[in-house]
Amino acid sequence: MPVRINPSILAADFVNLERDLNSIQTADLVHVDVMDNHFVPNLTFGPQMVGRIQDVSPVPLDVHLMISDADRWAPGYAELGAYSVTFHAEAAENPVALARRLREIGARAGIAVKPGTAIEPYLELLPEFDQVLVMTVEPGFGGQSFMPEVMPKLGLLRDAAARQGLDVWLQVDGGISADTIGIAAEAGANTFVAGSSVYNSNGDPTENIAALRAAAEQHSH
Ligand code: DX5
Ligand code: ZN
Repeated sequence: MPVRINPSILAADFVNLERDLNSIQTADLVHVDVMDNHFVPNLTFGPQMVGRIQDVSPVPLDVHLMISDADRWAPGYAELGAYSVTFHAEAAENPVALARRLREIGARAGIAVKPGTAIEPYLELLPEFDQVLVMTVEPGFGGQSFMPEVMPKLGLLRDAAARQGLDVWLQVDGGISADTIGIAAEAGANTFVAGSSVYNSNGDPTENIAALRAAAEQHSH
């Protein structure tokens, strides 16, 4: 099964973003973490910055919104031309209406859940989404440890998607490295976000992406 490796530029050098975007051309998508210091206790950047990233990135954008009031703000990121826009279930009043709006604008629509949020209420809504992001750390910061206890959510999602005949991408984000990616692939994930293990690891980003891809493929169904 094909796997997707999406490096997170949260771990890049913000002063040399263009260089760090160009160094991950073998990636499937570039993961862009938008944080508002409200939904999560950290702040990154907003639409103006994401618009410039969209202008210069050789790889399409996988925008992960860790912001409150997603219903109001998420469509703007789709309008910038992002390939995929993922909002948090905990931050949206009407996830289905928002996903429909994102698709209408032309983006893939994703929904994310924090480690403590149950996935069951969303299983029957899967046709509305192109991607489900199962957070494998508490959102807000890079460099945290992978939480294997959330893996059962991936099994539930994989079964629900198969039952409904859907090709919904199952993404994991947080603590993904060559050591942990196999656990997530085994559990059913097929789309992997990796910040520290791409940008702050021993090899160069291209080597690190290749190592992650090989490890994931070995364990994917
Ligand atoms: C965390 C972000 C992640 C982060 C992952 O809230 O959503 O995308 O960049 O970083 P690593 O891979 O270092 O855990
Ligand atoms: Zn993220």
